Amino acid sequence: MAQVDLSEVTKAFGETVVVRDVSLEIADGEFLVLVGPSGCGKSTCLRMIAGLEEITSGKISIGGRVVNDVPPQDRDIAMVFQNYALYPHMSVYDNLAFGLRLKRAPTGKAFPRTRRVYSEAEIRERVDRAATMLGLTEYLLRKPRQLSGGQRQRVALGRAIVREPQVFLMDEPLSNLDAKLRVQTRAELILLHDQLREAGKSNTMVYVTHDQVEAMTMGDRIAVMKDGLLQQCDTPLTLYRHPANRFVAEFIGSPQMNVFGPLQISRENGTVRLRDAKDAALDLTLPADKAAALAEYAGDTVLFGIRPEDIAAPDTARTDAAAGATMPVHVQVREPLGSTVQLHLEAPGGYQITSVLDADSKAWADDDFEAVLDLDKCHAFDPSTEVALF
Ligand SMILES: Nc1ncnc2c1ncn2[C@@H]1O[C@H](COP(=O)(O)OP(=O)(O)OP(=O)(O)O)[C@@H](O)[C@H]1O
Ligand SMILES: [Mg+2]
Repeated sequence: MAQVDLSEVTKAFGETVVVRDVSLEIADGEFLVLVGPSGCGKSTCLRMIAGLEEITSGKISIGGRVVNDVPPQDRDIAMVFQNYALYPHMSVYDNLAFGLRLKRAPTGKAFPRTRRVYSEAEIRERVDRAATMLGLTEYLLRKPRQLSGGQRQRVALGRAIVREPQVFLMDEPLSNLDAKLRVQTRAELILLHDQLREAGKSNTMVYVTHDQVEAMTMGDRIAVMKDGLLQQCDTPLTLYRHPANRFVAEFIGSPQMNVFGPLQISRENGTVRLRDAKDAALDLTLPADKAAALAEYAGDTVLFGIRPEDIAAPDTARTDAAAGATMPVHVQVREPLGSTVQLHLEAPGGYQITSVLDADSKAWADDDFEAVLDLDKCHAFDPSTEVALF
């Protein structure tokens, strides 16, 4: 079993706490993505799992065994970095075999199988298997400089795979690749995760990225971090549909969710309405289930959130607008993107919002129209804590 558990893990460099009280249970065989803006503590978390960074407090276990004091080489993990220095004078085959040929000095009793020394036949079998999985078989005799960037990256992955570790740790392994190759390699990694399982190998992966699209497409679950704090950990769709707070709401999804306000909550004739204090034209009536969640806050304010794809123009709305679900907007910029068109809109109250419409929408720059909001999919956040109310 190769589950990884972090329990209230904290890391401080001197006085500065960079990871605070992070608890995460990563299941055996799970592809967990750690995502967040630069400096939020992703690499530090990964390095603590790897044992490259000591933890200040808390507990980390791998496969049910506490590894706080186990040195990196005895943790049975393999790490892939962004800067995958391959040995330039060695062939692809020798680069892949290198880690298996290293003899390790005995270091205590934990994970004895990492100290095994492999026979050349065993090494060949493992290298061949990894090369087949990664489509590298025909390149085994080449030197790294005779490979493309994507092929080199696959060799770096191969070096991790041949070790058959309990857990793969990957720190932005695709960020040196150009955009097209990144998309392709992303798909290959997902496939690889499945292939490892089918081959009966451990395939638990902890993958660090700052790219929310990478996180959404690859993760079984995504852990979102900000300023050293875990914000939310859940499946991609749950994060997208039910973000726990404003930060997650705006981080996941592209273009990002429109969040504006604060709007005033009022209760009238059994309905709950959200209004802007400055502009009466912004006056929304919430559907029943959302209304119930906000009824007790009448008189207070909320931040209102709605995704760009949930704002339609009259000619793209799929159904008639529900009562109280429209607002007048002015189109400032129209950006055709091929399959969709993105509009930058000015809403009442002076709020700048974005909408994504079908490509054939006839909403043009400088137009004014009644935008139709799908309020069943709207969000509300507490203005002071920014915690999601729905
Ligand atoms: N050895 C160190 N000494 C002091 N501070 C450090 C050290 N290593 C990292 N930090 C700080 O810890 C914070 C988290 O760093 P970390 O490398 O984990 O961020 P990250 O989320 O991986 O960011 P990026 O996306 O830029 O790689 C940063 O503010 C960084 O400056
Ligand atoms: Mg990093």
